[in-house]
Amino acid sequence: MKKVRHFINLSDVKNPELDRIFQIAEELKSEWKSGVRKQYLQGKVIALIFEKMSLRTRVSFESGMVQLGGGSVFLENQHIGLGVRESVADIGHVLSSMVDGIVYRAKKHTSVTSLAKYCSCPVINALTDQSHPCQALADMLTIKEEFGKLEGIKIAWVGDSNNVAASLVEIAAKLGVQVVVSSPEGYEFSEKQIKKLCGSKPKSAFSFEKIQDPFKAVAGADAIYTDVWVSMGQENEEEERKKAFARWQINKELMKRTGKKSSIFLHCLPARRGLEVTDEIMDSPQSRIVEQAANRMHAQKGLLVWLLNEAGKKENFRSLSR
Ligand code: CP
Ligand code: NVA
Repeated sequence: MKKVRHFINLSDVKNPELDRIFQIAEELKSEWKSGVRKQYLQGKVIALIFEKMSLRTRVSFESGMVQLGGGSVFLENQHIGLGVRESVADIGHVLSSMVDGIVYRAKKHTSVTSLAKYCSCPVINALTDQSHPCQALADMLTIKEEFGKLEGIKIAWVGDSNNVAASLVEIAAKLGVQVVVSSPEGYEFSEKQIKKLCGSKPKSAFSFEKIQDPFKAVAGADAIYTDVWVSMGQENEEEERKKAFARWQINKELMKRTGKKSSIFLHCLPARRGLEVTDEIMDSPQSRIVEQAANRMHAQKGLLVWLLNEAGKKENFRSLSR
């Protein structure tokens, strides 16, 4: 049986494939801006299974599919009962017989890998407790658009060493972006995690540093990036997390400490204004939160066209417009 390509971890794609995803995304975004919406996925359908709330991920996949000439079916897990109403295997086999791809937001990372075992169509990770690779694609597209390059750019992650941070480090290693991570004690990546995220062959321009003091961590950063202190599923830790993260708020004082007028603010959203970031920074001229969210759709259109049309095929690196 032909091996199916999935996008569950960033390690599922080789560097030239990642470059190809960005190439398609950029080409499609530029066409989209001039009002052109070529139907590269005409007649193709994806299923979206969501166990957690979403705005950006759901809308970007659904809109992206329509713009490419395809469609999507949204499935709340409580309605299909994955592994409860019927087995994961049965659902995987049946869905694969009807759709061309499955986008899955799961509470547990292993739920995504388990479903993928039974799918003969690609499965895309739409966020788990461990990672958010689709977010990382959009983050890099945003950085590239802002600074015209990725290599040599320095991002300071200030906040929880969570799923979004993990995918950021993983993609940065592949693309040669410098990352500094600043998290309070008890919320940092372990050495084992860091080793795994950095991979065995990071690009030479990549660097990773852990600097606990947020004011020191942001020095020289081109972008300060944060996320909520309490992720979905961690609601019962809210009070202790709010205390632990209080010094890790992105505010005017911290933003100034990059020492660069050109530095930008990123947040994957949704944000808890007044906690991890002030209104002043969210709404400042340095904020790129809307552009970053918009790039979810453009980056994922690149991913979808590559994964559904090209991955695993020989004739790969042609221009879309030819
Ligand atoms: N950033 C992100 O994944 O947003 P949603 O949770 O709204 O999809
Ligand atoms: N870390 C957040 C990201 C939301 C997009 C969460 O998992 O809830």
